[in-house]
Formats: sequence, C-alpha cells, structure tokens
Amino acid sequence: MSATASVGQRLADLHGSLSPAEQANLKLILGLSAGHLVPEQGPGSARGRVAVSEALELLCPYDVADPRGAQYRGRPELLTDELLATLIAEAEEVGETAVPFDEHYLGCGGPVADRVATSRELTSLVRSVVPGAEPTGIASYLFYRDAGQGIIPHIDTDIFSLNVLMMLAHEIPGDPTTSSALYMHYPDGSDERFQLTPGEVVIFLAGTQAHSRTPIVFGERVTILTFGFMPQGAPIGNYRR
Ligand SMILES: [Fe+2]
Repeated sequence: MSATASVGQRLADLHGSLSPAEQANLKLILGLSAGHLVPEQGPGSARGRVAVSEALELLCPYDVADPRGAQYRGRPELLTDELLATLIAEAEEVGETAVPFDEHYLGCGGPVADRVATSRELTSLVRSVVPGAEPTGIASYLFYRDAGQGIIPHIDTDIFSLNVLMMLAHEIPGDPTTSSALYMHYPDGSDERFQLTPGEVVIFLAGTQAHSRTPIVFGERVTILTFGFMPQGAPIGNYRR
C-alpha cells in the first residue's frame, strides 16, 4: 500500500488484504457511506464521496469501459407485448401478498419472472453490455404504493450487484416530469433522472453505482421487476438471498 495513493485506492488495497467476511463488512460500510454522502452537497462531503466512489469502482467485479450510469436502457426485443402483459398479470397476483420492506413492498418472483431470470435471451442481452455476467436466478417484484415510498441513495448488495430493472407499470396522477423516478448519483455530486415507461429496461452496476427512487405522491403507483446478475465464477453463496 503506497502512502501517496489516493484514499479510494488505499481502501481498495485494504479490501484485498481482508478475509471474505471482512470484505463483505467493508463493502457494506462503503455502500452505507455512499448513500449518506450523496445528498450532502457541502465541500466537506465531496472528498469523502469521491474517495468512496473511487474505492467502489476499483472493487467493481465487472469488466466494462465505464461502471457509471446505465449500461443499457431500452425496450429489449425479448420483452414482447405478450410477455410484458404476462409479467404485469403475475405482478398483480404477487402484489396481493407482497410484504412491506424498507420503503416499498417486496414480492419474490413468480414462475414467469423466474423463467425470464435465467433465460438465454436475458442472459445474452446482459452479456452484450456486461461481458461474462451470470444470472443469479433471483427475480423480485417491487411495489411502491403508499405516498412517500421511495428509496434513498444506496448501492445494492451482491445479489443485485448487476441489476436488470424492468418497469412494468407506473400510474402517474400529476405531471410526469416531476413524478417518482429512478436517479443515479455520480461522484461529482451530480445526478441523472431515469423516467422509465412501462416495458423499459435499465441494466446497471447497482453494487457500484449509487441510485435512488424519489418518493411517490398520493395516487401514484410504481411496479418494477428486477433480476440479479453476478460476475462469472463468483462464489454463489454471496449471491443468494
Ligand atoms: Fe437498489
């Protein structure tokens, strides 16, 4: 470890010297720090935000040109109108028994979502932008139903270190330009709004890239399906619920 290395590099070096359990704890601390540093706009937090972002990006287990932002955004060919309608119907069914979890309701996948999670079509879409990624087989439906529900800036655990986020439904009672949206937060303190329409998919490195969802208002509802992917050859135990 060099005394002249940046704080981010030194944190990444420290990570390399730890046991797997210690590495998981350090990653958790970095993730929590990223979440807390994002909303702070003062100059004091800028240094910490840059260091934490640099460390997380150095530890990014995926081989991509730029780990920041969306690796893919669009309506993929695999998501036919028929499949989208089937997933929406499955979400409605799962939604009836979804449990409150943090600031949203969480439902495990269903037979259709689980099939898509490990499908050849989804895997090849993901690998076309993030080479070597492997499906964890984990699919989760997320529901934002109660006014105020959203997620503050955070990074995801290993299960969703590569997150395929599919917008299924968004009921917007007011102005779409100010409705709830996915945001990605960057080391310089800037952010990017992702106002997704139903059927739109975003693939991003959620274990590295800080992100949030702004709160819904009364009458607004958001239904999302997410699929987790992991680096090739990763210890599968870290990537299971
Ligand atoms: Fe997340």
